[in-house]
Amino acid sequence: MTFDDDLRATSIVPVIVIKDLAHAVPLAKALVEGGLNILEITLRTDAGLAAIKAIASEVKGAIVGAGTVINAAQFAAAAQAGSKFVVSPGLTDEVVKSSRDTNVPILPGVATGSEIMHGLSLGLSTFKFFPAETSGGAPAIKALGGPFPQVRFCPTGGVSPSNLKTYLSLPNVICAGGSWMVPADLNAADAFTKAAALARDAKELAQGITKS
Ligand code: 3PG
Repeated sequence: MTFDDDLRATSIVPVIVIKDLAHAVPLAKALVEGGLNILEITLRTDAGLAAIKAIASEVKGAIVGAGTVINAAQFAAAAQAGSKFVVSPGLTDEVVKSSRDTNVPILPGVATGSEIMHGLSLGLSTFKFFPAETSGGAPAIKALGGPFPQVRFCPTGGVSPSNLKTYLSLPNVICAGGSWMVPADLNAADAFTKAAALARDAKELAQGITKS
């Protein structure tokens, strides 16, 4: 399976910010139990890399990757920690080169035709569309499908249960990303049960929409 195959199969990628390393494994287990096995751990916190490492070695069935990767040093650290993929909010030659060097697939962020053309020139055709809602949302992705029929998008940023189906129904959307299935307070007694339920609900919304 290629990374694109994995994205297509899951159709939803939780974007996770881990502040306390102790939350990483139970949260990942809950999300996988709820049906979401591709997990993006952002490198916005000190615990990010250690969380990736812990999930990679302890959570069966999880495909864990790093998010918010913006340079080669972060990319190398993410790969070293066991990331199976890397997500970036933008697209630079530097991070795409890192992906080639480490053989870890990258999902770089784009929001304009020029950025897509830059990515295409580097041999990529699957992009994160970021920040999705404020960059024109589903109508923008639909419009970009005209000149770029070969491109697939993973809208992220402002995706929620209320617009998930609209995004996933677009033929050029391979999957959608978002943080809504991660409870705000992971210290709460029922946080992980809630995460599993939110993941299950998200999966249910995506049911019946086949991605190509
Ligand atoms: C992010 O970078 O934080 C992601 O795009 C998630 O956005 P969301 O919180 O709007 O889902």
